[in-house]
Amino acid sequence: VFQEVPQAPPDAIFNLTNQYKADKDPKKINIGVGAFRTDELKPYVLPVVKKAEAILFNDETLDHEYQPIAGQKSYTNAAVKLILGKDSPAIAENRYAGVQTISGTGANHTGALFLSLFYNKSKKCYISNPTWANHRNIFSLVGFEVENYAYWNPETRGLDYEGLIQSMRDAPEGSIYVLHACAHNPTGVDPTREQWKGIAKVMREKNLFPFFDCAYQGFASGDLDNDAWAVRYFVEQGFELFVCQSFAKNFGLYGERAGNLTIVTKSSEEAQRVLSQFEKLQRSEISNPPAFGSRIVDIVLNDAALYKEWTENLQYMSTRIIEMRKALYNNLIQLGTPGTWNHITDQIGMFSFTGLKASQVKVLKEKYHIYMTENGRVSMAGVSTTNVDYLAKAIDDVVRN
Ligand code: LMR
Repeated sequence: VFQEVPQAPPDAIFNLTNQYKADKDPKKINIGVGAFRTDELKPYVLPVVKKAEAILFNDETLDHEYQPIAGQKSYTNAAVKLILGKDSPAIAENRYAGVQTISGTGANHTGALFLSLFYNKSKKCYISNPTWANHRNIFSLVGFEVENYAYWNPETRGLDYEGLIQSMRDAPEGSIYVLHACAHNPTGVDPTREQWKGIAKVMREKNLFPFFDCAYQGFASGDLDNDAWAVRYFVEQGFELFVCQSFAKNFGLYGERAGNLTIVTKSSEEAQRVLSQFEKLQRSEISNPPAFGSRIVDIVLNDAALYKEWTENLQYMSTRIIEMRKALYNNLIQLGTPGTWNHITDQIGMFSFTGLKASQVKVLKEKYHIYMTENGRVSMAGVSTTNVDYLAKAIDDVVRN
């Protein structure tokens, strides 16, 4: 039965974590996976999450019954409000739906699966070049023809805006565009507001479908509303769209898989029909979403004091990352490392797209026990005051040799 099954390649990101764990060298550094670490390089349990856990454990009315198929309304509505904003026209006009998903990956998958069944305008889906390692897999597995759109300009180490717009002009009418709502992964380069307006204009002209992926709300500008600006602008402009939300990074709930798919439609009645199909899909895939992580998010998002505390916890995480960007930049400048490095501090979110080549990344791993993705992406959350010197010296060496 299984004779013909070929070996699949290991996952580009999680395989690095495995290699890092197996490495016995005390100087090893994991700057592969996008997971926040404290300056002591320990996982961070948000204090507000601990408070919500205490509330949960002391709540004697709670049980372990099945959740509703699309998740608790208190959770999905709070997630929708978080991304669309409390004054969103889509919320006021009741033309939205929310589905609890298995974190951001599940939101991408469920959204893609729905489109593969009900979206007839195009079979083409465009993802940025480069993008998160999982986008291509997710969309091609449900039958889309996945193409790249221009995004990163290696010369300016910034956004290739003209290339992006041109790709939208050249794409078949109605194609799906996967857009990073903020803190682009892996480049850390987002369009400006003016550029977003230009993108929306071409998408409108070409009837392209905006499929937003939002895994880092709170990490781009440190402000949850600012980070949702692009999505909110598209909604104001009257687009129908999907937004995938992950609470892995901004709540530090990596293992609990708490996510949401926000759907904006033209009418309330459409939203109901669309939701009914999502419930049908969800039933066949996971039946009911998991309760623990989503209950924590639900408690925090629906309590003004806890919400405020959450924004402070988020501030701590985003500030530490910004400090590490400065530290790495300063170290490279002090070493006189050939090249320009200001992109490290200019880029935003959890990642820095260093411009290091795959051959240099390989030496960093083999000689220095530093683990990062082949495309030269550094997860800044894995950099600390104790390892930044070593990291900068290692980068200096591979750049010079
Ligand atoms: C990353 O890009 O490192 C994270 O989003 C983890 C993942 O799921 O790939």
